[in-house]
Amino acid sequence: MNSDQNTSQKLAILDAGAQYGKLIDRSIRELGVESELLPMSTPAAELQKSYRAIIISGGPESVYGENAPQFDPQIFQIGLPLLGICYGMQLLAYETGGHVEKLPQREDGPAQISIVTSSPLFAELEPQQDVLLTHGDSVTQVGQGFSVIAKSGELIAGIEDPQKKLFGVQFHPEVDLTINGQKILSNFLFNIAGFSGSFTIEDREEKAIREIKAQVGSKKALVLVSGGVDSTVAAALVTKALGQENVFAIHIDTGFMRKDESKTVKLALEKNGLPLRVIDAQDEFAYATTHIKNEETPKLNEATEPEQKRKIIGDTYIKVTEKAVQSLKVNADAILLVQGTLRPDLIESASNSLKSSHKADTIKTHHNDTELVRKLREEGKVVEPLRDYHKYEVRQLGEKLGLPSELIWRQPFPGPGLAIRILCANEPYMTSDFKEINHQLKAFERGKYSITLLPVRTVGVQGDGRTYSYLAGISGPANWTELMEIAKEIPKTVHSVNRIVYIFGEKISGPITEITQTTLTPDVIEQLREADAIVNEILLKNNLVKSLSQVPVISFPVHFGIPGNHSIGIRTIITRDFMTGIPATPGVHIPVPVLEEMVQRILKEVPKISRVVYDLTSKPPGTTEWE
Ligand code: XMP
Repeated sequence: MNSDQNTSQKLAILDAGAQYGKLIDRSIRELGVESELLPMSTPAAELQKSYRAIIISGGPESVYGENAPQFDPQIFQIGLPLLGICYGMQLLAYETGGHVEKLPQREDGPAQISIVTSSPLFAELEPQQDVLLTHGDSVTQVGQGFSVIAKSGELIAGIEDPQKKLFGVQFHPEVDLTINGQKILSNFLFNIAGFSGSFTIEDREEKAIREIKAQVGSKKALVLVSGGVDSTVAAALVTKALGQENVFAIHIDTGFMRKDESKTVKLALEKNGLPLRVIDAQDEFAYATTHIKNEETPKLNEATEPEQKRKIIGDTYIKVTEKAVQSLKVNADAILLVQGTLRPDLIESASNSLKSSHKADTIKTHHNDTELVRKLREEGKVVEPLRDYHKYEVRQLGEKLGLPSELIWRQPFPGPGLAIRILCANEPYMTSDFKEINHQLKAFERGKYSITLLPVRTVGVQGDGRTYSYLAGISGPANWTELMEIAKEIPKTVHSVNRIVYIFGEKISGPITEITQTTLTPDVIEQLREADAIVNEILLKNNLVKSLSQVPVISFPVHFGIPGNHSIGIRTIITRDFMTGIPATPGVHIPVPVLEEMVQRILKEVPKISRVVYDLTSKPPGTTEWE
């Protein structure tokens, strides 16, 4: 079919199991085009009937591998404009007579590529482009009718058959790290596929309200308000759809909230006409356990594994909620649970509630997507009016609904709160190659720094998978641009390090091999709460809350020679989508004196803190939170 005769204004994203699948959708919607994530196996005839163009996402498999997702080979023949991303490009090349191979070098992370600027896909772009590349396989030869339109060194990074409107890119135009990604997608949508770009946030609000009404019917809705943007906007939307008399709003104080958070949330929402009941469940959380694979976990205040902590918190949330529902004296069957879950939350925990092929690897299990929630969801008892939205859209919607901008622009705070910002451990993490890795790190010292492995691990993401590996610390002079460079280089060769920090204070000498045994006990929580309050007070005072997307403050159990002490990490992230991002460079994105004030005040005002460190890692390879 000729795209001029095609009246559809919808784009199909075929999901090959990508970590970034929903971001393609986010980027497309941001450009005013309606998109739908569909399983890779969607029949070509269906696509031809209802869609104007196709994007094939990335994915963790090899096109020639046994686990490669099933697809209809006709999708390349039906005349719809098609863009293959990463795995999608490999599939396009493979199916049209090209070659795909596993080469010895694996490319992961930010890279510079050269492009052929006469390609319609790259219209109005400069010949050199900064992009995010993540792949193990490479296209080594293109099929007939195709030409190469981008290269990363010797590797093929883009292909096209402009006659057939078939395009492929090995990099990810959908993420922030690809600087001109939106331009490339917009070239594909408007110049190549001929979309009109008329899909608006108003259409979507109406659709969400219709859906809420249909799902809740004559029942009541219960909203769990965490204080963050998402649940607050969800509460407002549900109230608009159902009327205040049909909505109960509850805030659970888990004991892992920020300083005065619960009080502030209550005041802010009540000002906005939503009465909020605050439940103090601190003790219940501290001593909670749950079951993982039929085995009882330790109590939360004795647990050390991040995923265990998340699972306990997620399940306890539901239990506390169930009790709250009972106390409302309304028939439980007549109540539905409203959650402010967003699309990225669901992708990161590889939720089975997504329409697509749900092949993505689990990076972190978000508290609002635990097994219990999944079960309730299957029973139709969870209302998630924002499940189709990305963060920036939630804020747009919140503003439209008339919520105060302090609330809308508040930095996101994870549901499990401070609990996942305290690294817990019973013993140092030291693998048999500890010494050897420490030795490898020496190569990055440039004659003036000291770089040491720290005996703890944090969560990261590489390729399409989760990593849980070493933290490394650089000490010495604070030449920030250089420190950022070193932090980029290390994980490329030292694969067991996924996060690098700068350690303020005296240069470290000798290996660091001890930790303070740590679990979620009141003293450690209080310590972090104070440090977090200091950082946030300084951010607010310096007007840095909007420009830095999020600033988690972390407690980690390295005592640097003073047993019983802890250390504090300051993690900044600048991102549009929370799927990828860069840390703020001191002196560029955050004034150096501001950072120094944070460090000095934490050391002075918070008891038993040995060192303060600054996270230098982008995402990938490190996630925003440390666990
Ligand atoms: P990561 O650490 O995966 O975080 O880069 C991405 C975004 O998600 C938030 N986050 C969570 N939010 N429950 C939440 O509600 C969670 O368990 C959770 N874990 C991470 C994180 O703060 C960041 O904004």
